[in-house]
Amino acid sequence: MKIFAFGASSNRNSINQKMALYAAKQFGDADIQTIDLNDFEMPLYSIDREQQIGIPKPAQIFMNYVQDADLIIISFAEHNGSYSSIFKNLFDWASRVNIKTFMGKPMLLMAASTGRRGAISVLEAAVNRFPIHDGRIAGTFSMSEFHKNFHVDEGIIGQEMKERFDQVIDEVKKQLNTIHSDAV
Ligand SMILES: Cc1cc2nc3c(=O)[nH]c(=O)nc-3n(C[C@H](O)[C@H](O)[C@H](O)COP(=O)(O)O)c2cc1C
Repeated sequence: MKIFAFGASSNRNSINQKMALYAAKQFGDADIQTIDLNDFEMPLYSIDREQQIGIPKPAQIFMNYVQDADLIIISFAEHNGSYSSIFKNLFDWASRVNIKTFMGKPMLLMAASTGRRGAISVLEAAVNRFPIHDGRIAGTFSMSEFHKNFHVDEGIIGQEMKERFDQVIDEVKKQLNTIHSDAV
């Protein structure tokens, strides 16, 4: 199974990158593909710019990762209640490659913050929007107070949060099994 997992952040020490990779590792010996969104920085999307320069190559490369994936895991950084600029810009360009941007792929959507709200606003935005772009949301998870609840070697350390996380992972696995058995 191929998992495409990344933190939707341009922070080089992104807590969301850590969360996305941690979640990806819960799926046994899957082939994990990841990206650093800094490698997908493009001119700010505008219709005028698209007409001038066409769609930049990183947007197409991103879509290739989506196409190859059996499961997409994104963990969102929340900036002022919404997507980080770097993710929003990539999403805008990618949606010009294919409005069905997520191609019916199962998705685990997460968001982590250092504060108490667990970046739920950006998570809600993605959960509401991605089905319009053919994202098949198999699970969602919000993590608050990252530095209190996550340890670099041990993963999620708060018992209640770990149980909630494990339930989400189990549900995603179930949905992947259903999709797989429907396909054969
Ligand atoms: C411009 C800016 C806006 C932010 N807005 C929010 C916010 O609305 N909600 C929130 O929980 N954290 C906010 N934060 C803090 C981020 O959640 C925090 O930086 C977190 O580490 C982001 O995840 P990352 O490490 O994956 O980038 C903001 C940070 C910046 C720099």
